[in-house]
Amino acid sequence: MQFFLYLFIALLLLGNLVVLLIFQEKSPILDFLIKHNWYFPYHVVLTLYLLPLGEFGRELREKSFMNFCHVIGPILMKEINPHKPELFAGLKAAGESGKSGKPLTVLEIGIGPCTNFPYYPGKCELVVVEPESFFRKEVEQKLKSYPGIHLKGFYDIGAEDMTSVIDSGTIDAVIGTLVLCSVNNNDSVLREVLRVLKPGGKYYFYEHVKSKPSWKRKIQEFLHWSTIWRYWMCGCDFYDTHKLIKKTGFSTVECKEAYLSYSKFSLPLEFINHNYYGIATK
Ligand SMILES: C[S@@+](CC[C@H](N)C(=O)[O-])C[C@H]1O[C@@H](n2cnc3c(N)ncnc32)[C@H](O)[C@@H]1O
Repeated sequence: MQFFLYLFIALLLLGNLVVLLIFQEKSPILDFLIKHNWYFPYHVVLTLYLLPLGEFGRELREKSFMNFCHVIGPILMKEINPHKPELFAGLKAAGESGKSGKPLTVLEIGIGPCTNFPYYPGKCELVVVEPESFFRKEVEQKLKSYPGIHLKGFYDIGAEDMTSVIDSGTIDAVIGTLVLCSVNNNDSVLREVLRVLKPGGKYYFYEHVKSKPSWKRKIQEFLHWSTIWRYWMCGCDFYDTHKLIKKTGFSTVECKEAYLSYSKFSLPLEFINHNYYGIATK
């Protein structure tokens, strides 16, 4: 019995070594998994595998999350990007016209791998609130291609409480794309977005929401209740986010629906295909 226990622990440690090797920034194993559409099953197995490691598995899970964003990101972006020029047209125009001649102050919450930089105004002051500090390097790296965007601050905290880093009424525009599904408390985040915006300031959002009443919504509710999805998808969950935004107290909320279709990884992504994007004005 004891032998099997030791064997199990040894295999676990060996497995971790393999996982660590896979997680090198440029791993041929990872490239292979992505190329052959094996990434999602691998991700599910990996997260289950890291479960018993508890806190020890945290660092690995963070790396796994980063890889996850880099793999799923481009697939999602292919579907979402066609909506972004329309969503951010006003932001670009406001930045370019710059009433007072001063660049806009933009706050991006949950910036992740910086998918929105192409839609920013040419010049702006950027504040980032992103709890995962490993994205800071990526932000700094990518900003080299956008010399007009000046990084005023990167705060590795949750957007639920930004009082220690951002004063009320100081931000011209808040950007949040695919973030409210991942935060711990989306009500608090939305209240904070409203607090930090200047009067007339705008919140640009793109979020996936729960499906309309259907079998899919029932499965989403089960995945939410059991916390399975949250665990597999690195903190993502299902909410009626568009309704929450409308209830927050913005003076106007304009939003549109979008349905995404995926050719790859279609099963997991099918659950997040109902999206809303728009602008909420303080
Ligand atoms: C699905 S990713 C989206 C990344 C990026 N906005 C995009 O559109 O590609 C969710 C992001 O939200 C961040 N996040 C998670 N919890 C957060 C919180 N409480 N406050 C702010 N950001 C959070 C994650 O670290 C991650 O970068």
